Amino acid sequence: MSLTTPAARRDLSFHLHPATNLRQVQAEGPLVITRGDGVYVYDDEGRRYLEGMAGLWCASLGFSERRLAEAAYRQMCELPFYHSFAGKVPAISTELAERLIGIAPAGMTKVLFANSGSEANDTAIKLAWYVNNALGRPQKKKIIARQRAYHGVTVAAASLTGLAFAHTDFDLPIARFLHTDCPYPYRGAQAGESEEAYAARLAASLEQLILREGPDTVAAFFAEPVMGAGGVIVPPATYFDRIQPLLKKYDILFVADEVICGFGRTGNMFGSQTFDLAPDIVTVAKALSAGYQPISASLVSGKVYDILLAQSDKLGIFGHGYTYSSHPVPAAVALETLRIYAERDIVGAVRRVGPRLQAGIRSFADHPLVGEARGIGLIGAIEVVRDKATKASFDPKAGVAAYLVRRAQHHGAILRNMPGDIVAFSPPLIITEPEIDEMLACFGKALDDTWTMVRERNLG
Ligand SMILES: Cc1ncc(COP(=O)(O)O)c(C=O)c1O
Repeated sequence: MSLTTPAARRDLSFHLHPATNLRQVQAEGPLVITRGDGVYVYDDEGRRYLEGMAGLWCASLGFSERRLAEAAYRQMCELPFYHSFAGKVPAISTELAERLIGIAPAGMTKVLFANSGSEANDTAIKLAWYVNNALGRPQKKKIIARQRAYHGVTVAAASLTGLAFAHTDFDLPIARFLHTDCPYPYRGAQAGESEEAYAARLAASLEQLILREGPDTVAAFFAEPVMGAGGVIVPPATYFDRIQPLLKKYDILFVADEVICGFGRTGNMFGSQTFDLAPDIVTVAKALSAGYQPISASLVSGKVYDILLAQSDKLGIFGHGYTYSSHPVPAAVALETLRIYAERDIVGAVRRVGPRLQAGIRSFADHPLVGEARGIGLIGAIEVVRDKATKASFDPKAGVAAYLVRRAQHHGAILRNMPGDIVAFSPPLIITEPEIDEMLACFGKALDDTWTMVRERNLG
């Protein structure tokens, strides 16, 4: 990472970087990645990094799966574009839809494709509104998500997202979006409160919100089974067991955002299975194509689909879709990805190596900087604190976790820091135990470097 490389300088002349501190990238230059191999990527000076985040939680099969490249090439030669508007469909998209429904959480019957996780969630929001209009309930439109949720950054998906950076100065959230408590045991549970008691308190708070707003004004509740970009937050035991009956009681659609959890990450094919969820709509993206092509989907239950069908009779059209919904090239790559998951038993692989990651991150629990180590399957996080006893955080301006992540990169592993000095781990699902050890060794050195820095600068 340095402005000395020609590629970095050229990039800064032309590229507006998303989700980036623009001043910092101007000053330091981007890390220019030129190629990948397994769980590793290489920069423009040939340095190798273990990609501990699978890119953006998505490169589940690593960075050199030839079969996906070949699937894309074959499809480009055969049928490079077609669409599914007005009674047409590329054959390959049918195959993908069938395969996806075959593995989807119980109750999903139809697939509507899009290009990104944000679009899949936007689609789900529109469906929740549309369904309530179809049912003659035009006032039932509010959407509830959780504080610290991350559901994307398009206008509606960013409104779902419960993180300040997605709202501030973008004039978001738009009207009718509400946020209930984040199920965050480390910060939210009271001293001595059991997970179950905390979950009951969270459910009571959600019910109060619903009653305050009026149940006949609330259309849908969105949740990631495990929150990703909000800090890898695993809900307390029985949380969803208590939330789901409330949604049923007040006739509120449940949308499970499986954009990170889907396809093995939590040790089951879907987070919905890990937490025993019965959603009405499921959104997927990222590992659907192992990140090799942009593709996402909103899966709907039979109940939702029947309403759409009846409304299409009435209006003459189901008026939603993108030029690239059902695009055959990402569909071919996604189909091949799902075949590889089945052939290589990707869920079994996560169950085999996940405990190594979970034990490994927990082995840092006694370090003076570590407030909590948490996770499930092949997703985890370490929350850095100034004071272990009081859980007091560092001044965000000190950028302690950002420093830690920079040091990890120096030692050879790419990790990600998130608001609240949280460092995430979400490696490719093909990672081996020795590679997990290597990633954690880089992290350990970076943690010690950070401890030195904290003491030198008197931040403690
Ligand atoms: C849970 C979740 N939902 C939605 C999104 C948005 O996906 P995209 O960036 O493809 O729009 C993300 C992205 O990280 C995500 O983690």
